[in-house]
Amino acid sequence: MTKTDVLMTAPMMPLVMERAEALFTLHRLWEAPDRAAYLKEVGPRIRGVATSTGHRRTDAAFFDPLPNLEIVSSFGVGYDNVDAGEAARRGIVVTNTPDVLNDEVADFTIGLLLATIRKLPQAERYLRAGHWLKAPFPLSATLRDRRIGIVGLGRIGKAIAQRIAAFDVEVAYHGRSRQEGVAYAYYPTLVGLAEACDVLVVITPGGAETKNLINAEVLRALGPNGILINVARGSVVDEQALIEALRSNTILTAGLDVFADEPRVPQALIDMDHIVLMPHVASASVHTRTAMGQLVLDNLASWFAGKGPLTPVPETPWKGAAA
Ligand code: NAP
Ligand code: 8YV
Repeated sequence: MTKTDVLMTAPMMPLVMERAEALFTLHRLWEAPDRAAYLKEVGPRIRGVATSTGHRRTDAAFFDPLPNLEIVSSFGVGYDNVDAGEAARRGIVVTNTPDVLNDEVADFTIGLLLATIRKLPQAERYLRAGHWLKAPFPLSATLRDRRIGIVGLGRIGKAIAQRIAAFDVEVAYHGRSRQEGVAYAYYPTLVGLAEACDVLVVITPGGAETKNLINAEVLRALGPNGILINVARGSVVDEQALIEALRSNTILTAGLDVFADEPRVPQALIDMDHIVLMPHVASASVHTRTAMGQLVLDNLASWFAGKGPLTPVPETPWKGAAA
């Protein structure tokens, strides 16, 4: 049987690549010396795309040389790098990888929160530099008696809240609407949540709707004992306002896994020793990245078997074979 032609935009884990090669005729875009020429040649044969957040935007210009494209299977739950509205207009289904990473990202967020408050990376650097021989490491801030505000109480936000509750500290949340059956206190405005809490954990989608949601006003409301943890997207935080707030002690500290222009991180943040910076690794275990890669392939396989996508995004809902 002839295999379906699938274009992959960036390499995935070896195990996932092996499985992809077995299922499809795989075209490796990142290996093409001249992408335009390559797409001109293979573009009309391509029926599926496997892409990831590291890839440049998957938009109208990307779709143009792929006239027979049916499905974009995106690696990651966040798909702000895919123009899903444009895909919908062209009748292309977009899928993402929800749920399989909830626990991993929530575990990591708790780690980042504790590392930031208790200065774990700084304490380790202190020991390695031999400073402990001269004096004990200075006392840190604490998680005790804090109130944690979750910005975006979705699948991952709920898994984070569940873990935080085990630490015996209070949780509140903000989203565009109050959620039925959720006992945590709801704040209809983000400034209201920031005023009522001294930690904000940001875990919303990226994209135009959430751009610079965390701005100077929100950071002022968080206050001088305040801590910002961002595991959402760099675009959700006004990075310049955050740098100013950290410089002026408007907030205490921050733990950041995501940045506006990854993998470039502003030197101003790198130069601050009191914050914790991570290279976008919240889901980055072999276990979870394998599950995400498998779901990318399963979405493609299910689609080409005529069974519809497994996890379509809301902009391109599956309406059945007659759609
Ligand atoms: P989800 O289930 O769709 O939850 C998103 C939450 O954000 C919802 O509770 C939604 O609530 C809220 N929200 C959406 N727009 C908002 C707005 N404008 N203002 C305030 N709240 C808003 O998504 P998820 O699976 O939990 O994933 C969330 C995001 O985490 C992803 O999209 C991705 O960007 C990020 N992420 C990052 C990593 C990493 O490696 N750092 C890993 C995984 C995910 P309402 O609808 O009530 O507003
Ligand atoms: C991945 C993520 O790091 O799922 C997401 O939205 O940001 C992460 O799980 C990313 O998708 C890998 O490119």
